[in-house]
Amino acid sequence: VQLTNRQCRLAARPQGLPRASDWECVDDAVADVGDRQFLVGVEYLSIDPAMRGWMNPVRSYIAPVEIGEVMRAAAVGRVVQSRHPDFRVGDYVSGAFGVQQYTVSDGKGVTAVDPAIGSPAAHLGVLGLGGLTAYFGMLDVGKPQPGQTVVVSGAAGSVGSIAGQIARVQGCRTIGIAGGHAKCDWLVEELGFDSAIDYKSEDVRRRLRELAPDGVDVYFDNVGGDILDDVLLRLAPRARVVISGAISQYNATEPMRGPSNYLQLLVRRASMTGFVIFDYAKRYPEALSQLAEWLRTGAIRSREDLIEARIDDFPDVLLRLFRGENTGKLVMALPATEVSDGAGAS
Ligand SMILES: NC(=O)c1ccc[n+]([C@@H]2O[C@H](COP(=O)([O-])OP(=O)(O)OC[C@H]3O[C@@H](n4cnc5c(N)ncnc54)[C@H](OP(=O)(O)O)[C@@H]3O)[C@@H](O)[C@H]2O)c1
Repeated sequence: VQLTNRQCRLAARPQGLPRASDWECVDDAVADVGDRQFLVGVEYLSIDPAMRGWMNPVRSYIAPVEIGEVMRAAAVGRVVQSRHPDFRVGDYVSGAFGVQQYTVSDGKGVTAVDPAIGSPAAHLGVLGLGGLTAYFGMLDVGKPQPGQTVVVSGAAGSVGSIAGQIARVQGCRTIGIAGGHAKCDWLVEELGFDSAIDYKSEDVRRRLRELAPDGVDVYFDNVGGDILDDVLLRLAPRARVVISGAISQYNATEPMRGPSNYLQLLVRRASMTGFVIFDYAKRYPEALSQLAEWLRTGAIRSREDLIEARIDDFPDVLLRLFRGENTGKLVMALPATEVSDGAGAS
């Protein structure tokens, strides 16, 4: 049976929020599966704020996606044909498969997904880069100590929701900042944050004064902008500000806004440190086994926000991140591919 590969390619460099015209969805032929290769039917796409950065033609921690290229995306799929000894038909695998229905792989950068540990979508969140980012950003960069006060922004998202729970497990007082009452209730009632600030309806600076009278020891920042400036005014002596991301700035059409209260770093003898998760690759196994253990014992919880959609819906699903429509890890679930016994797919 001839398979067609629906793909979403970058068509133009966006200004501000990506628009429909920045994308082109096309049918392509599925490449032949060579020796020591296998065909993956992509089923779950990780939708990440970083995608916005990859669309810009600038020097960064990873090369930009070129115009005409299939959009880069982490994904989980199933092996539908295999000529590779280590990958069997029917196996779930994870890798940078891109926004497309199928891809041929030689196994490089592909890892097996163990459904016994978590769902395929969880392998893109708490058991994927989101959980890893939370783990190393919080523990290695933030270094929270028992009894300290930890603030996390973007707290109801993929990285933030795990980062805050990790701080709680370390014995810290955790304060989440997120948009909307529902998200704030979820953080406190379901995830065990000590408190939450709804930045859309509350005065963040005033609430931080109330909730962290002795200052903030660790600030795990996912959003940048005004919220970063507000937290900088509340730092405790020798505080650590962890720069995980700055989603409030990713669609800026003016030059990105930096923190104007950065001299608080001097006053408080504090530090501000950025990190890129890929630098921790050698230690992923350690982090993943700890995250899986915390999940198993119920010490932390994860939530995957699954949107059932087709490849052509990707441009709109991506915008959900910037509209704050996701709670937990945003994952696009594609129609399942059919797997037949080694012979191929229909
Ligand atoms: N350093 C690394 O290696 C690394 C790796 C992965 C991810 N990251 C970063 O981690 C951060 C979180 O990523 P994620 O995958 O977990 O995404 P996410 O938090 O699940 O989703 C994005 C969330 O950002 C919030 N948001 C959107 N626009 C905002 C604005 N203008 N101001 C404040 N909040 C806004 C929204 O929640 P609200 O409803 O609360 O606004 C939205 O749900 C991003 O900055 C990302 O770039 C860094």
